[in-house]
Amino acid sequence: MISRKKLIAGNWKMNKTSADALTLVADLVASVGRQTDVEVVVCPPFTSIETVGKAIEGSTLKLGAQNMHPEANGAYTGEVSAPMLRALFTTHVILGHSERRALFGETDVFVNKKVLAALKNQLKPILCVGESLGERESGSTLKIVQTQLEAGLDGVSKELAPSVVIAYEPVWAIGTGKVATTEQAQEVHAFIRSLLTKLFTEPVAQKVRILYGGSMKPANAPELLAQKDIDGGLIGGAALEARSFVELVSAAAAVQ
Ligand code: PGA
Repeated sequence: MISRKKLIAGNWKMNKTSADALTLVADLVASVGRQTDVEVVVCPPFTSIETVGKAIEGSTLKLGAQNMHPEANGAYTGEVSAPMLRALFTTHVILGHSERRALFGETDVFVNKKVLAALKNQLKPILCVGESLGERESGSTLKIVQTQLEAGLDGVSKELAPSVVIAYEPVWAIGTGKVATTEQAQEVHAFIRSLLTKLFTEPVAQKVRILYGGSMKPANAPELLAQKDIDGGLIGGAALEARSFVELVSAAAAVQ
């Protein structure tokens, strides 16, 4: 079996001015900027991308964005494109986050366009999927995840699929302190891997990292990260402070 390097990504959401972002990233560079056991990605708001990008130069940290528009340029007021992100040495981009879907009306079709545009521009998409509380309670978790995954990856080639990172984020666990149990998370992660096998073949599916997201913290991370199909975490709240984020990186390194 291929061993997948664990990936810990910090989704800072709409937090931190560029000065605050610089303080946080400087701490991260000092603490985890030389280690290579775990791939670490920080995703600041657009306004701090350039500052954070300069601060991580020469370290092992990587830079991600939280969103992008599928078109390369044009009359899309307020939007940012893949080539713009690439020009600032961004390597990853979070796409289809549940907040984008719920608050900004992003559909699977739109998310798919972004995934294809990211790959075309050598950006690694972190494609988010996950069910709401109502969907879990009505027993449709796997169906929802399947729809979001298949639609999100429509048209992605077998060759480019290993560049995609999937984040399973149950909506009811995001920012709520309610973490999925390890069994709940592993069940969905294994299901996602089985879908990836169907879409891209087994060797490709074995290469794709599947992150868990939703109230992951130093206290619950070791157990989650020890699961066979959980290859890291997409971290919101606990990524806003160097100490907890560094502990999460250490927890990932410990099970690597
Ligand atoms: P949380 O957010 O860790 O604060 O739950 C995760 C996310 O939304 O990516």
